[in-house]
Amino acid sequence: MGSEDRKLRLGRRGFLGAAASVLAAAGARADAPDPAITEVQEWARVLGDGVATRPYGKPSQFEKHVVRRDVEWLTASRESSVSFTPLHELDGIITPNGLCFERHHAGIAEIGPQKHRLMVHGLVERPMVFTMAELRRFPGRTNRIYFLECAANSGMEWRGAQLNGCQFTHGMVHNVMYTGLPLKALLDHCGVRTNGKWLLVEGGDASLMTRSIPLDKAMKDCMVAWAMNGEALRPEQGYPLRLLVPGWEGNMWIKWLRRIEIGDQPWHQREETSKYTDLLADGRARRFTWIMDAKSVVTSPSPQAPPAAKGPNVLSGLAWSGRGTIKRVDVTLDGGRNWRPARIDGPVLPLSLVRFYAEFDWSGQELLIQSRAIDETGYVQPTKGELRQVRGVNSIYHNNGIQTWLVRADGQTENVEIS
Ligand code: MTE
Ligand code: CO
Repeated sequence: MGSEDRKLRLGRRGFLGAAASVLAAAGARADAPDPAITEVQEWARVLGDGVATRPYGKPSQFEKHVVRRDVEWLTASRESSVSFTPLHELDGIITPNGLCFERHHAGIAEIGPQKHRLMVHGLVERPMVFTMAELRRFPGRTNRIYFLECAANSGMEWRGAQLNGCQFTHGMVHNVMYTGLPLKALLDHCGVRTNGKWLLVEGGDASLMTRSIPLDKAMKDCMVAWAMNGEALRPEQGYPLRLLVPGWEGNMWIKWLRRIEIGDQPWHQREETSKYTDLLADGRARRFTWIMDAKSVVTSPSPQAPPAAKGPNVLSGLAWSGRGTIKRVDVTLDGGRNWRPARIDGPVLPLSLVRFYAEFDWSGQELLIQSRAIDETGYVQPTKGELRQVRGVNSIYHNNGIQTWLVRADGQTENVEIS
């Protein structure tokens, strides 16, 4: 379309009314000269870098701020700490490999694939030791997209609003397409004895992290994976082999997986007794709280991604449930007085993040933005108040309460709590 032609069409508001008003609101008019359009730009005067000058591609130099971050007061030692996914900078449902949050208890183990082994033993007919090459030759390879959420995600928010940004309040989650084997294939190969009811899974890093997993879950959908988003696992994510426990708390997804023992009862290791359990108000602890209940968060607007301008805006966020598929996400701009269903877009898969959007017009009034997820079981994401009524305030883990962002008139956006 020539510029004269375009001017004319934009001018004919009666004819192209709706489309024209959207254009007028979201961009500058094309009849006002803009040097970014009319001048030859510096990058158009020179040749760029040639092919393979960047043998492993990196993001644009203008995206340097899109990084994992930690929180100083949560990081007494880097070897046992967490870095958070920059959720507010991402879109769609897949987390890029270099931005997946990390949680290590003894730093990143660097294990060569030649030296790595996976042993399966205990109550099995044929105890086995697998090399990585043998796992790659094993029949039944499969690709699955799953979210991993640390049980401690949002843990700092139990007693009130704390961290200013969804990267920090909700960034202990990532969503990846994994390649590997169903654990069932390996267990069937080894022949689990009839009295075998539990698995002990162990990591090869210096923390030798161990967890107990019921055999039913292992046989249903657990996997051993060596690839993420099409390439080898990153060292941070457990290269060369990690366990997947879809929908269940991240701590069970043992990285650098080296050993699976089959037993007839749970082991009650540190990570399932003193850690990753919830202390109730009466001093008792909940036992075996593995499933991550339905949760959602608005990633934009959010404190690190405030609305850019008045007028048309796009609210965006993520929802997930450890019990299956997300059926609906509601959003509110007025702290829960009025809810409307958000538009879920992209693949809707069980035990995976889903992406939602809600377009809105912002005239500069204060907003209290929330989202609430509803999963296929009919479960509705609770408010933080509702959660505290049942669980008290001693908890850290399993906080899936509704998040509130306050957008002030000047656009500044903050983490607040209203119930
Ligand atoms: N596995 C081993 N071997 N060592 C660890 O420190 N951390 C666990 C789990 N598996 C851990 C581990 C915890 S608490 C979580 S939340 C997830 O790994 C984090 O996985 P990620 O680093 O890929 O995000
Ligand atoms: Co964790």
